[in-house]
Amino acid sequence: MLLTELLSPSAEGLGRAARHLAEGRLVAFPTETVYGLGGDARDDRAVASIFAAKGRPAFNPLIVHVPDMSAAARLAVFSDQALRLAAAFWPGALTLVLPMRDDSGLSPLVSAGLPSVAIRMPAHPVAVALLHAFGGPVAAPSANPSGRISPTRADHVMDGLGERIAAVIDGGACMVGVESTIVGLSPRPTLLRPGGIPAEAIEDCLGVPLAAPDPAPARPNAPGQLSSHYAPAAAVALGVTAPDPGDVWIGFGPLSGASGLNLSPTGDLVEAAANLFHYLRAADRRAGPDGRIAVAPIPEKGLGRAINDRLRRAAAPR
Ligand code: TXA
Ligand code: MG
Repeated sequence: MLLTELLSPSAEGLGRAARHLAEGRLVAFPTETVYGLGGDARDDRAVASIFAAKGRPAFNPLIVHVPDMSAAARLAVFSDQALRLAAAFWPGALTLVLPMRDDSGLSPLVSAGLPSVAIRMPAHPVAVALLHAFGGPVAAPSANPSGRISPTRADHVMDGLGERIAAVIDGGACMVGVESTIVGLSPRPTLLRPGGIPAEAIEDCLGVPLAAPDPAPARPNAPGQLSSHYAPAAAVALGVTAPDPGDVWIGFGPLSGASGLNLSPTGDLVEAAANLFHYLRAADRRAGPDGRIAVAPIPEKGLGRAINDRLRRAAAPR
């Protein structure tokens, strides 16, 4: 339990909020769309604690917030179409899904292991001031518990997440009130989520109609969605308490021992989530395409539900 601070958007309040972010804590802040629950997008543990605070049952990829174009260009590769949309609608309620740069420095948990990243440059002066004060990319989903309505005022955030996060910056009511419009560009311009900027305005800017998203994500076990997530080349076995001799073992908790890849020797689910994508990659490299990764049982509670969701996708037949 935390005592959640209610900060004013003064220089002092913003400085305090930036310090929380720099030390890996979570701060809710106003954007023109909805309040966001922010954490350092480069810090695995901070990103894992965003999922924990929201009680999300799965690791959906998060939107990364930046203050300006040079910060955006350090994270993603901008095509001509991406540059055109950014010039027309940033800062504002548009999120672009773009190929992530290899040297982005982002936590793989931010994009749920995808090779792309969702980026947004908010227009709200408090959000912009916070991003400048912090000086790094901020991952921020809407600042509500999973499955609840998005918050458009600081007291909504306090009601839903009070005592789960370090601070809320009170910037008054959000002007737009619905989340940003999300557009992907590869292989072609696609409306991934309708939102604060009308799709027609985006189509006018690009001069082409936006495609509808692949319906596969609506069916959680469809191969289309599974293949769009990070799947190891090696086979993956779950709930393994005694690995075979040739297995690459990913453990969890004190019973798994300290050797090899233990997601959390103390059984801490936030630490385990922070390590998950790194360890899956490391295990995949060690196992090779003909090998097998064996994963210890993870409790189905708290972030364990999100970890198991990702592991089931990684282990699904393909
Ligand atoms: O208005 C907003 O966009 C708010 C404020 C706080 O900025 N943020 C927000 O973030 O709504 P979030 O994390 O809830 O939105 C995440 C959504 C995902 O559910 C997914 O639809 C999309 O963004 N997304 C993120 N990364 C993606 C990726 N790499 N590929 C496809 N979709 C992605
Ligand atoms: Mg949301």
